[in-house]
Amino acid sequence: MQIHETISGVRKALETERAAGRTVGLVPTMGYLHAGHLSLMAAARDDTDLVVATIFVNPLQFAPGEDLATYPRDPEGDRVKAEGAGVDLLFCPDHDEMYPEPVLTTVSVGELSQSMEGASRPTHFAGVATVVAKLFAIAGPCRAYFGEKDFQQLAVVRRMTADLSLPVEVVGCPIVREADGLALSSRNAYLTAEQREAAPVLQRALKAGTAAVLAGERDPATVTTLVGDIIAAEPEAELDYVALVDPVTLAPATGALAPGTYRLVTAARFGIPRLLDNIALTVPG
Ligand code: PAJ
Repeated sequence: MQIHETISGVRKALETERAAGRTVGLVPTMGYLHAGHLSLMAAARDDTDLVVATIFVNPLQFAPGEDLATYPRDPEGDRVKAEGAGVDLLFCPDHDEMYPEPVLTTVSVGELSQSMEGASRPTHFAGVATVVAKLFAIAGPCRAYFGEKDFQQLAVVRRMTADLSLPVEVVGCPIVREADGLALSSRNAYLTAEQREAAPVLQRALKAGTAAVLAGERDPATVTTLVGDIIAAEPEAELDYVALVDPVTLAPATGALAPGTYRLVTAARFGIPRLLDNIALTVPG
C-alpha cells in the first residue's frame, strides 16, 4: 500500500494509473476505521482497479465546542486495517497540506444542508461539501463510496457532485451494524456501557415505524411520533429528531403517504455522542 501525505504526490500517482487505463475508487474517511469504513473499501475493491482511501479529520465540519480535539484517532491501526481491506493508496494529509491558507471558498448545498443534522449543526455540511469537493479535485475522475449511515451527507454529496458537474460517480453503500442493530460509528467509542446497551433502540424504533406503514399506516406524523416515542422512552437517549423524507430531496413527507420510497431518519444523543440511524421505507402501491 502506498502512503501519501501530499496532494501533488497523490495526483501524480493517480494520473499515472488512469493513463494506464485503470479506474479509481475513492473512499473518504476521518479514520478510526471500523467495519463500516472497510465495507466501502470492499465495494471499491469489487468495482474499481485502484482503491484510494483518505484519512483526514476535517476541522471545517466541526463547530467550535464540538469534538474536533477529542475525535478518536488511531493512525497506526488504520494503516493496518486499510491495507487488510485491499487499499492500494492511502492519502493522509495534515492540516496545512489541506488548508495552507484560511479557507475563503466554501461549498454550500442550500436547503439540503439545513434540515435534520443541519438544524443542530448549521455549518457542518458546508465543511463536509468543501472537503469532499477538494478530495474529488485531488483524486480526479473516479467512483466515490459513501455510507448510507450518514444519509443526509450522502444526499448533500450527490447533489454537490451533480450541481458542480464533478467527474465523479457517487456510490451509496448499506449501513453496517453490530449484531444488536447499532450502526457502527467511530463515535460509539464515547458510549458508556449503559448507553451502549441502550443505543440499539434507534434501529428498533425505525423498524417499528416501517412495520406500522406495512400494516397500513399512511400518516407521516403518526409514523414519526411512534418512532420518537419509542426512542424518548429510553432513559439514556435524548431524542433530537425523527423525519420521514424523500430520499433525494430530503423534503419531509406531507399528507397521506403515496406509494413510493422514503427514508425514515433519526438522531439522538446518548451522553456525549449524537448517534444517527435511518432506514428505507417503501409504501406499497
Ligand atoms: P467518517 O465518519 O469517517 O465516515 C466515512 C465514511 O464511512 C462515510 O461515507 C460514512 O457514511 C461511512 N460509514 C460510517 N459508518 C458506517 C456504517 N456503519 N456503515 C456504512 N458506512 C459507514 O463521514 C465522514 O467521515 C466525513 O464527513 C467525510 C465524508 C470523510 C468528510 O470529512
